[in-house]
Amino acid sequence: MRIDIITALPSLLHSPLNDSIVKRAQTKGHVSVEVHDLRDYSTSKSRTIDDYAYGGGAGMVMAVEPILRCIESLQQDRQYDELIYMTPDGETFNQTMANALSLKENIIILCGHYKGVDERIRQHIITKEISIGDYVLSGGELAAAVVADAVIRLVPGVLNDETSALTDSFQDDLLAPPVYTRPPEINGWEVPEILTSGNLKAIELWRMEQAMERTRIRRPDLWEKFNQNHDE
Ligand code: ADE
Repeated sequence: MRIDIITALPSLLHSPLNDSIVKRAQTKGHVSVEVHDLRDYSTSKSRTIDDYAYGGGAGMVMAVEPILRCIESLQQDRQYDELIYMTPDGETFNQTMANALSLKENIIILCGHYKGVDERIRQHIITKEISIGDYVLSGGELAAAVVADAVIRLVPGVLNDETSALTDSFQDDLLAPPVYTRPPEINGWEVPEILTSGNLKAIELWRMEQAMERTRIRRPDLWEKFNQNHDE
């Protein structure tokens, strides 16, 4: 899989994309992530990428030309399955979207800034608009890093133990059960006995019960969805 991220602030993406699982995924060749500085596609001397909003009002708007130039140059080398724009008024990101995106071959993620991009880019170029939640960030970079991270760890082969993505919270509309490690007791806080029993069937059942209880209490919305899916 290849992810091209277009941004006016490339440095914001360097750290999140160059550590841990996301870095390993790139080193192992499962994914390639390329960050493109939108200013490299400006034709002005001062590398401007924004302009005043028609009709007035505060805030600059990201102009069409540099974005088009960047996207068209990428499209010369390959076809893209999805052109994503990160924006607080997009569709709220979730695990189902992450799963679907992890199956794509090539995607572009455009990070918004200032007052956003010229609407014509959204209308004519963008195929999907994603928000990571109902709050406004200074730009789309951190949101793009969130999406890239959630997607990359799902690409087959990225995680050492393939089942560990399958047991993540949300994969089956349930939150993940609690986990423990050594020591078995500290400060009088004990690990649930069943986990050290060696009875794998009983442990699996306990984990399922815990996941269901956690979901029922913490996320009634997910719990309802889980029950609907399991009633049919
Ligand atoms: N850009 C600014 N805020 C954002 C958000 N919540 N999600 C995606 N992109 C954004």
